[in-house]
Amino acid sequence: MSDQVPALVAEGVSVEFGRGRRRLRAVSDVSLAVEPGKTLAIVGESGSGKSTVARAMAGLVPLHSGRVSLLGETFARPSRAQRRNIQMVFQDPFSSLDPSSSVGSSLAEPLIVHERMSRVDRSRRIAELLDDVGLPRDSARRYPHEFSGGQRQRIAIARAIATHPKVLLLDEAVSALDVSTQNQILVLLNDLQARYGLAYVFISHNLGVVRWIADETLVMYMGHVVERGPTERVHTSPEHPYTKALIAAMPIADPSKRDLRARVLISGEAPDQFAKPKGCIFASRCRDVTDACTSVPPIPTPLTSGGAVACHLTAPELALAGAPDRAADLTLTTEKS
Ligand SMILES: Nc1ncnc2c1ncn2[C@@H]1O[C@H](COP(=O)(O)OP(=O)(O)OP(=O)(O)O)[C@@H](O)[C@H]1O
Ligand SMILES: [Mg+2]
Repeated sequence: MSDQVPALVAEGVSVEFGRGRRRLRAVSDVSLAVEPGKTLAIVGESGSGKSTVARAMAGLVPLHSGRVSLLGETFARPSRAQRRNIQMVFQDPFSSLDPSSSVGSSLAEPLIVHERMSRVDRSRRIAELLDDVGLPRDSARRYPHEFSGGQRQRIAIARAIATHPKVLLLDEAVSALDVSTQNQILVLLNDLQARYGLAYVFISHNLGVVRWIADETLVMYMGHVVERGPTERVHTSPEHPYTKALIAAMPIADPSKRDLRARVLISGEAPDQFAKPKGCIFASRCRDVTDACTSVPPIPTPLTSGGAVACHLTAPELALAGAPDRAADLTLTTEKS
């Protein structure tokens, strides 16, 4: 582990929606850390809590418990000053760009909110931002509908980096784009990261993209982190049965390997999200379920190959001993090469 201060840390973050019997714990005890210039991907099926984790870290939904630190400063809800350092980019740039505002006004807005800039400085900064994302400077006078999907996403990225944030939360930021546009935006994100030392949290359904962009990968299932580790390790030797199923479900070009996939696909049903089981969250869908799995929640166990996994099959002795002390400090270790 390097001695750099992480750009972003989440410790034991939980988020709940609703009340009483309709109370839903959308995110349960999630911890993560991302260093400057690095990318952490969050993967998992729809509804697993990926966006909610990101929104909680950005202060868009309140934390039920846990805390978040940006560059070593800890908060339960970011102040305005902290908020400029953590920005989100969404799948649909129409949701973040006002169709009735020119691109110049959209880019000026965060500068007006967060920085006291003269009009001249603002115009200079807008030109710089358009250069940064590879758009012509006269784009400032035009409107979102005059741009293609990829160009609009460039505008959304320019807006997100306007106040020199340290962290970008990219929630399916390339998912709506065709493959070649997707690739161009990924290259742009990589360039911006290298140039400005940005830390990325990259949420995606596309594991191929994740493998290309992310240093580390965190796998979520029903609000819980079930596995995390260096992206290459997670892809080449996934440890959690759920991660195995996700990786196995990726499209495979080589037909001779396709039958491997069938062996690990998920069966069974997801538990009721309002009444989660007392054991492992994945037990009802796991082919290798044991008695311990339905009675004791697994705690994250470090893997010698990198990262950690919360599965009794990996550490059956912990199911019996229930070693909470050992688990507590595991969730935060980030292995970096
Ligand atoms: N504002 C809200 N009010 C109530 N429930 C919510 C709210 N936002 C999210 N949820 C619920 O929280 C859970 C996690 O949702 P979330 O959007 O974080 O999942 P996700 O992993 O981002 O899914 P997707 O891949 O579809 O974007 C889901 O059960 C969802 O219905
Ligand atoms: Mg989402």
